Amino acid sequence: MTTKHFLFVTKEAIDRWCLTNLLWFLIVMDPKAWFYICALIVRGYLPLSALPIADRSWHVNTAVVGKFWHISDLHLDPSYHLTEDRTKVCLSSKGYPASDPGDFGDFFCDSPYQLILSAFDFMKQQPQQTDFIIWTGDSPPHVPVDELSTDLVIQIIRNMTDTIRKFFPNLPVYPALGNHDYWPQDQLPVSTSKVYQAAADLWEPWLIPEALKTLREGGFYSQLVQPDLRLVSLNTNLYYGPNKATVNVSDPAGQFSWLVETLERSRASKERVYIIAHVPVGYLPYAINTTAMREVHNEKLVEIFRNYSDIIAAQFYGHTHRDSVMVLQDDRGNPLNSVFVTPALTPIRSAAEPYSNNPGLRVYEYDPQEFTIVDLFQYFLNLTEANREKRPDWRLEYTMTKAFHMKDVRPQSLLRLAESFTAPQSDAFDKYFNHFMVSYNDTVVCQGICKIIQVCSVQFLDQASYSQCIKGKAKTEGIDYNVL
Ligand SMILES: *[C@@H]1O[C@H](CO)[C@@H](O)[C@H](O)[C@H]1NC(C)=O
Ligand SMILES: *[C@@H]1O[C@H](CO)[C@@H](O)[C@H](O)[C@H]1NC(C)=O
Ligand SMILES: *[C@@H]1O[C@H](CO)[C@@H](O)[C@H](O)[C@H]1NC(C)=O
Ligand SMILES: *[C@@H]1O[C@H](CO)[C@@H](O)[C@H](O)[C@H]1NC(C)=O
Ligand SMILES: *[C@@H]1O[C@H](CO)[C@@H](O)[C@H](O)[C@H]1NC(C)=O
Ligand SMILES: *[C@@H]1O[C@H](CO)[C@@H](O)[C@H](O)[C@H]1NC(C)=O
Ligand SMILES: [Zn+2]
Ligand SMILES: [Zn+2]
Repeated sequence: MTTKHFLFVTKEAIDRWCLTNLLWFLIVMDPKAWFYICALIVRGYLPLSALPIADRSWHVNTAVVGKFWHISDLHLDPSYHLTEDRTKVCLSSKGYPASDPGDFGDFFCDSPYQLILSAFDFMKQQPQQTDFIIWTGDSPPHVPVDELSTDLVIQIIRNMTDTIRKFFPNLPVYPALGNHDYWPQDQLPVSTSKVYQAAADLWEPWLIPEALKTLREGGFYSQLVQPDLRLVSLNTNLYYGPNKATVNVSDPAGQFSWLVETLERSRASKERVYIIAHVPVGYLPYAINTTAMREVHNEKLVEIFRNYSDIIAAQFYGHTHRDSVMVLQDDRGNPLNSVFVTPALTPIRSAAEPYSNNPGLRVYEYDPQEFTIVDLFQYFLNLTEANREKRPDWRLEYTMTKAFHMKDVRPQSLLRLAESFTAPQSDAFDKYFNHFMVSYNDTVVCQGICKIIQVCSVQFLDQASYSQCIKGKAKTEGIDYNVL
């Protein structure tokens, strides 16, 4: 099961096979052919990987990179339909009138099925070869509690799972559960439940039996996804503030001790680890002094991540629906880990929020030896335009290294970027903030306390360092943050 993707025959593989056999033929026919082949390699016309050599392990260090997709917060709203009465377009607008509804959705609604299909269609058409998909949760819509039920939630997770599998039958998919992947929402329990059981049944084709076992019990799992790379999918919804089942529980579902044991074993086996989860660690970039999960659980998780930062290659989250990065530092300010929060596929916003996000999805490029992330390609759909043109023109929003003139997105580079944000007039920060909303509205500016909150959340993930950042910056700018 785990090696399924290595057997997947791609067009590139067929090309390589043909080329290899052609080269053999040339060499057999004329020994001088070697000379011409070498010349082609030196000039870069011929990839080394095409060489007819049985053991190519000696050149695994060439510039080849691996790639994978990250999708999150699909929030399918099956009720979405175009109708005269704007308050009736979707249940997820909760009676608020849709602003400019079209085939691909509205900024006051969750995703119509057509938006989700357009996203997968786009992903499927990309010529780049990707190794797997990470999917960080939240399939059901934002609707009042009595519009859903356990069965409806499972039905929607099944719909999304089947849809993904139909589009990508040969690609491994590694999901994480979100706070909406439960009924009532946010109340993910500390022991087995119908939803955990259903998720394990639905994701059986993607996961190994050992992973399915912990998924059934607590909604989390780990699995080796390449010979030296372990993926750990955490159920951070257990640490989410609104979850009543885990208030005052120091280690809900024993996930912390399981995580530490898993990381210990990974370290002993010389594996590298990707952490994926729905609710991110650290502070929200848009609310002062507010951790995404409960503060006490956040402190604990940050401590574990610091302790094992030598084997954690990167971390990936969703939930905020916005595009942001964090860099985990040790207590002396050394960068340890790159943390990526992907924006949502759903464009929904509540009436109280001043802005939203265009639908987004992304590709990460990773170093196949170290498994560190070297670049990020963010794609988006201009929803207004797609509705107007009646055509979903998904395209690249930005490439991280290009947009910010970075050599890669490893922890040291992210820290340097974060430090460049603090300048009073930082073009890099303005660009980062526009990306934060997935280019929803480039006339919205983020200054003063808005910017302080954003900037501190990028660099500081624990209470002591975060508070120090806020207090220091507020003092410098003469802002009284207590009155906010
Ligand atoms: C998912 O739900 C939509 C309606 O919201 C339906 O049209 C579609 O056929 C369903 N797809 C699957 C694979 O269940
Ligand atoms: C949690 O602990 C606090 C402080 O000890 C207490 O006031 C509160 O009632 C507890 N809540 C629950 C749900 O146990
Ligand atoms: C982290 O490492 C320190 C020092 O080795 C240790 O005291 C602490 O218990 C560890 N914390 C966790 C949560 O594993
Ligand atoms: C999205 O499309 C609208 C309408 O065509 C346009 O005004 C806006 O500038 C576009 N935004 C981006 C980021 O392309
Ligand atoms: C974009 O932002 C500007 C400034 O905040 C605001 O006046 C305008 O209404 C916003 N446009 C949309 C489509 O939200
Ligand atoms: C943030 O909240 C904590 C309590 O949770 C408090 O100790 C700290 O001073 C606050 N920091 C700021 C900057 O308000
Ligand atoms: Zn969500
Ligand atoms: Zn969520």
